[in-house]
Amino acid sequence: MAEELHIAQGGKEEKYALLYKQVTAIAGSESDTIANMANVAAMIHHTFGFWWTGFYRVVGEELVLGPFQGPLACSRIAYGRGVCGTAWKEECTQVVPNVELFPGHIACSSASKSEIVVPLFKDGKVTAVLDIDSEHLATFDDVDRLWLERIMELL
Ligand code: SME
Repeated sequence: MAEELHIAQGGKEEKYALLYKQVTAIAGSESDTIANMANVAAMIHHTFGFWWTGFYRVVGEELVLGPFQGPLACSRIAYGRGVCGTAWKEECTQVVPNVELFPGHIACSSASKSEIVVPLFKDGKVTAVLDIDSEHLATFDDVDRLWLERIMELL
């Protein structure tokens, strides 16, 4: 019964599985990465109702704001700074249950309480990061990390 309810309501896994199919279709029919980032940000954002969902692209020595959904955000982030710059520098996903406890976190909005940042790789180098902010503490876990990393591989 509980399992049926979970599926009927669309649990996190089911939502990600559907998103993965949608992104596969979109990325398979469009070669422009910015266009795909725009649609992926919109799909993730509206599937889960997150506070902010978007991309920062590696441009020279900085991350520069790319397609996003949500309120105004900072335009540039230096290498190694904040959660985004750390994901770029360490070349791995950052799951932050409480942004106030992350040293150097860049607060674009005081409403953001937890965050996940997933790097996007091209030829073994980080070319962008996907950043998602939640208004709630501890929103993201290994389920989000695994699915979002899979989705990033499609771009
Ligand atoms: N919090 C991020 C900055 C980007 S905004 O959340 C959209 C960080 O610390 O890198």
